[in-house]
Amino acid sequence: MKKELVIVLDFGGQYNQLVARRVRECNVYCEIYSYKIGIETIKQMNPKGIILTGGPNSCYEKGAPTYTKELFDLGIPVLGLCYGAQLMMLVLGGKVERADVREYGKTEVIIDKKSSGIFEKVADKTVCWMSHFDYISQAAPGFEITAHTADCPTAAAENEAKKLYAIQFHPEVLHTVEGTKMINNFVRHVCACAGDWKMDTFVENSIREIREKVGNGKVLCALSGGVDSSVAAVMLSKAIGSQLTCVFVDHGLLRKKEGDEVEAVFGPEGPYDLNFVRVNAQERFYEKLAGIEEPEEKRKIIGEEFIRVFEEEAKKIGAVDFLVQGTIYPDVVESGLGGESAVIKSHHNVGGLPDYVDFKEIIEPLRDLFKDEVRKAGLEMGIPQKLVFRQPFPGPGLGIRIIGEITAEKVKIVQDADAIYREEMDAAGMNQIAGQYFAALTNMRSVGVMGDERTYDYAVALRAVNTIDFMTAEAAEVPYAVLNKVMSRIINEVRGVNRVMYDLTSKPPGTIEFE
Ligand code: XMP
Repeated sequence: MKKELVIVLDFGGQYNQLVARRVRECNVYCEIYSYKIGIETIKQMNPKGIILTGGPNSCYEKGAPTYTKELFDLGIPVLGLCYGAQLMMLVLGGKVERADVREYGKTEVIIDKKSSGIFEKVADKTVCWMSHFDYISQAAPGFEITAHTADCPTAAAENEAKKLYAIQFHPEVLHTVEGTKMINNFVRHVCACAGDWKMDTFVENSIREIREKVGNGKVLCALSGGVDSSVAAVMLSKAIGSQLTCVFVDHGLLRKKEGDEVEAVFGPEGPYDLNFVRVNAQERFYEKLAGIEEPEEKRKIIGEEFIRVFEEEAKKIGAVDFLVQGTIYPDVVESGLGGESAVIKSHHNVGGLPDYVDFKEIIEPLRDLFKDEVRKAGLEMGIPQKLVFRQPFPGPGLGIRIIGEITAEKVKIVQDADAIYREEMDAAGMNQIAGQYFAALTNMRSVGVMGDERTYDYAVALRAVNTIDFMTAEAAEVPYAVLNKVMSRIINEVRGVNRVMYDLTSKPPGTIEFE
């Protein structure tokens, strides 16, 4: 299955997982490794191509991440992006210097070498996403400059004979209008990959691997009702049938009526054979979270309590050998567990268990997939569209949509406000447009007036984003009339709220969640 492999060497940039994703969009299997892996390991893997990512350092500084020159002599095509491009130039004898101005954002790139393998069918002038302080002031010997911008003399350079390509901008980010085309040109044309990696093979192989791994063992699955864990549960159920038990923890941080909805679909009345167990643990979570304000601490407490609840359920079932989690690839990378990227936030559903937990091992069948790939896998297994295209909902739930301390009262406020918001967005057809939308509760209280009385109540923040990959996002343009109706309904129907705001922030610099 992995016979055609492209590897991404991670130098610590935030978009690195997107590089892998874009490659896989070209139906070429791709894995990310830290730049620390040795050249011998790379030789053994014998990839068809290597991509060097961006990164936060200056490559000429002492101690900055680097790679041996030998990498460029393997006869394997190499594509360097941003930091990776600068590093390629520096290692091969070019020059990289600090620029007077930082080039950041959407930038027009002028293609100088139209016959370049990378720029096949790319327009002469094309909008690309730039983000750099340093610039290539002199290309390495044997390289020709293939693109430039108003501020950057070397936006791209190549040594065609040796199949080495350096690109200063980020083709992996969707703001680079023809970026996917450029990556496709690299993997399919320059590296000559056939592009036969497909989702049905992934599902088939995963089911077979799970069967082999589990044998006669018992498996416990953490089911949240969200897309990821639902797809993982159905995959496990197809692989091992009744050896699987799915535990759904209602931590009291779910959306309004969500617990009952999940039970209706995955419980005994629903179409799946999951040995569904619902645990109502609301009080327990509220107690543990009392007085806690810091978001990371909240995430850790919720994650830890989840594990404790599963552990208790596992004991009731008897010896359990494996725990299944719906971890997906961005969770892994953002938790700092894959590659070199900085930890943005700890996702509760990632990583190993503490020593004293009695499971033999964790199974994470979706660990290598991006969200939209998980959806494809779900459809492949016959999970209904309605479920597969559900909005993502984070494991720590409303716990990370309430700023500051979590109380039962605040949970009720945000549940009610969110239910109204979703109802109106759906009615206005915005569910077809915005990728994710929800209400969050700020920790701000302010003075208002209602029915001639002074109020001192909370402000609700409405969030709606357009995103394809959930790694970058822009605030959705929700029609004013819809926002106005939502505002008026929330103020009238939800006690404890006297202001409603709309969050315009994109990601970056914000995140999609509001915590
Ligand atoms: P952020 O806030 O990181 O969100 O921009 C990106 C996507 O991930 C979801 N998210 C999570 N999902 N566990 C999850 O399963 C988590 O801890 C978690 N935190 C964020 C978020 O809803 C969005 O879709």
